[in-house]
Amino acid sequence: MLRTKIAGIGTYVPEKVVTNDDLTKVMDTSDEWIRERTGIEERHYGAKHQETTTTMGCKAAEQAIEKAGIQKDEIDFIIFATLSPDYYFPGCGVLLQRELGITKTEVGALDIRNQCSGFIYGLSVADQFIKSGMYKNVLLVGSEMHSMGLDYTTQGRNVTVIFGDGAGAVVLQPTKEENKGILTTHLHSDGTYAEKLAMINPGSHGGYHFNKMGEEIDFGYPDIELGGIFMTRRMLEAEMLYPNMEGQAVFKIAVQKFPEVIMEALQATGLSVKDIDMLIPHQANLRISQFVQKRLGLSDDQVWNNIQKYGNTTAASIPIALGEAHASGAIKEGDLICLAAFGSGFTWGSALIRW
Ligand code: COA
Repeated sequence: MLRTKIAGIGTYVPEKVVTNDDLTKVMDTSDEWIRERTGIEERHYGAKHQETTTTMGCKAAEQAIEKAGIQKDEIDFIIFATLSPDYYFPGCGVLLQRELGITKTEVGALDIRNQCSGFIYGLSVADQFIKSGMYKNVLLVGSEMHSMGLDYTTQGRNVTVIFGDGAGAVVLQPTKEENKGILTTHLHSDGTYAEKLAMINPGSHGGYHFNKMGEEIDFGYPDIELGGIFMTRRMLEAEMLYPNMEGQAVFKIAVQKFPEVIMEALQATGLSVKDIDMLIPHQANLRISQFVQKRLGLSDDQVWNNIQKYGNTTAASIPIALGEAHASGAIKEGDLICLAAFGSGFTWGSALIRW
C-alpha cells in the first residue's frame, strides 16, 4: 500500500528577536500579562523590506529539499500555506517556485488559505496526490511574515502580542514501507465564526461598509453604482486593515475542537491516546496546549511546545515545531506523531504519522 512519508524538514526563523518588554515600548501591555495569558516570552520578526513570506519560505524549503536528498527540479508540486502573502495575488506558491529557481519543470503551485490549520490542510492535499500516484515529491511550505501587518498601537495589543514570523517546509514522498508515513488526516471547518478571527479588509464585500469586527457601518458616503471598492482611503484612515480577534470565543472553541479532532484521528486508525509518542499542536497559545494535554492525559514529554520563543506563527508553527522536535532527537523511527491545529475560519484538523 502506498503511503506518504516526510522525507525532509526545513525551518527558518528570522534573526531579530522581539521580547515582550520591547512591545511595552510601543503599546500598553506587560511581560507579565503576555506570559500569563499566552506563555509567549519572545517572537522573531523578519527584516523589514528585505525578507518576505516567500523568501523565508524559500530558506525553509531549500533545507527540506536538501534533507530529502533530492534536487529542486525533482519537485513535482508546490503547496504554500500562509495568511500573510507577499501579494494579494498571485499567491506565494508561484513566487516560491521563482525564488527556488524551479523553471525547468513548470510544476503546479497551489496556495492554501486556511490560516492556523493551513499546514495540516496542505499535508492532507499532498497526501492525496501522493497516495494516488500522481506526484512523487511534493514541497509543502508554511510561512508567515505577520510583523508587517499588525497594529502596534494599544488598540491592536490583544492580537499583536501573540504573533511572530517564521517558516517551515517538508518534502513529501511515497513509501511502500509497512506501517510508515501518514496514517490519516482529518479536516473540518465552521464558517459561522468567520469574523471571530479575521482580517476582513481589503475584500470584495465593498470595503468601507464594514468595520474590522465585520459589523456594517454607515460612513455616510453614497454607493458607487459602477465598479467596486476593494481597498479605499477610508479603510486606511479608519485603520481598518488589521486583523481582529475575539480571544475568548477563539479559546473556548479551540479547547473543544483540538481534543475532538485528535480523538477522531485515533479512532479512524484504531489507536488510542496512549499510543501517541509526540503531539505537535499548532502553537496558538500555551494555555490552549496545556488544556489539551490535560484533557488527553498526556505527559510533558509527549507534547511539543515552543510558542514561548516564537509566538504564534500560524501556518509555519507546526513545521517549525516538527523540525525542532526532530532535530532534537525527540522523534524516533517508528514513533506515532500526532499533528493538530485550530484557527481562523474556524478551520481545524489533525494528522497521524508513523515516523
Ligand atoms: N496587554 C495587556 N492587556 C491586554 C492585552 C495585552 N496585550 N490584550 C488585551 N488586554 C486587556 C483587554 O483590553 C482587557 O482589558 P479590560 O478588562 O480593561 O477590558 C483585558 O486585557 C482582558 O481581555 P480579554 O480579551 O478578555 O483577555 P483574555 O483573558 O481572554 O486573554 C487572549 C486574551 C487573546 C490571550 C485569550 O483570549 C486567548 O488566548 N485566546 C485565544 C487566542 C488564540 O489562540 N488565537 C490564535 C488562534 S489560532
